[in-house]
Amino acid sequence: MAGSGGWRDRRLLDLFGLRVPIVQAPMAGSGGPDLAAEAIAGGALGSLPCALLTPERARADVGVVRQRASGPINLNFFCHRLPASNDDAAWRGVLAPYYAEYGVGAPAMPPPLRRPFSEEMCALVEEVRPEVVSFHFGLPDPALSDRVRASGARIIASATSLAEARILAERGCDAIIAQGWEAGGHAGRFLPADPAAQMGLFALLPQIADAVDVPVIAAGGIGDARGIAAALLLGASAVQIGTAYLKCPESLAGQAHRAALEGEGAERTVFTNLFSGGLARGIPNRLIEEVGPINAAAPPFPYASNALADLRRAAEAKGDMGFGPMWSGQAARLAPALPARELTEKLAAEALALLP
Ligand SMILES: Cc1cc2nc3c(=O)[nH]c(=O)nc-3n(C[C@H](O)[C@H](O)[C@H](O)COP(=O)(O)O)c2cc1C
Repeated sequence: MAGSGGWRDRRLLDLFGLRVPIVQAPMAGSGGPDLAAEAIAGGALGSLPCALLTPERARADVGVVRQRASGPINLNFFCHRLPASNDDAAWRGVLAPYYAEYGVGAPAMPPPLRRPFSEEMCALVEEVRPEVVSFHFGLPDPALSDRVRASGARIIASATSLAEARILAERGCDAIIAQGWEAGGHAGRFLPADPAAQMGLFALLPQIADAVDVPVIAAGGIGDARGIAAALLLGASAVQIGTAYLKCPESLAGQAHRAALEGEGAERTVFTNLFSGGLARGIPNRLIEEVGPINAAAPPFPYASNALADLRRAAEAKGDMGFGPMWSGQAARLAPALPARELTEKLAAEALALLP
């Protein structure tokens, strides 16, 4: 097991108690306790995505990680506001020909919705006391974030622009995740903005590092040690890596998704609103090619996923990923498919060797 020596910027290593400046990104639906535990064993901050979990399930997952690895853990939550209406009639109309083709209807039982951070989840944080709590789509109301801070957790959150980074710093975040345009999964945007105006990491990261006093974590398109070293030189104190960890055997990604991460489609990922209603980057599949990537009939986040649930299940039972998201950042093909602990150690050692 490598020590934590050699890194010039130790701010996040010391704040979180890490050996290497890597955050294994939370990935709702794709990352669970196995991935987090092995990333922690490699010296990184392991993350448990909680947006799709009940508090009971999140508590159980934390227990598994704590039993298997000793090191800091990050619990991740979404902070979106649920829209008043979940009317998805127009969206079901767009999907009707696919329902007929697969012999399924609109779902009788809605699938688990991505839920915003709540009183219940805050109580769970107070109970299980993670070292770090991260938020996507902004921060919760101060009453809740104050309780998270009082539990002893460090608070971090994603910014996709300088304006968002300044707000997160003012609200007292301990570190800010600069999420570039390249990133896989949902963009954590929380201020109204033209999505096309979102910056790539090379422009966003140094400007956020100059604008705020707290440490910055770089996210988006980092697939190998070159990306880590470049991010650290551009002002990051650590990196947050998602897609590369998706390829690990411990992730929950299915076989078809794994194959797509190695295929030609991973070279032309797109932002789509079809699968949740929010903009997220993924690999093109049948639904994206035929009705997207952006379709105005898709209801706002997070409601677009309901009408797709049965269709997606019917297709995936046949190994067909035509109707489910295959989230991926732009650098999927750079990353080696290794166990999470080995990947973490390799990325860190190679990045350290590249740095002056
Ligand atoms: C499959 C997948 C699911 C994701 N789910 C979440 C999530 O639940 N919470 C979150 O904060 N970020 C989520 N993200 C975004 C990551 O935190 C991070 O910004 C991104 O993975 C970095 O870009 P990269 O994928 O190119 O490494 C997800 C990313 C992926 C690829």
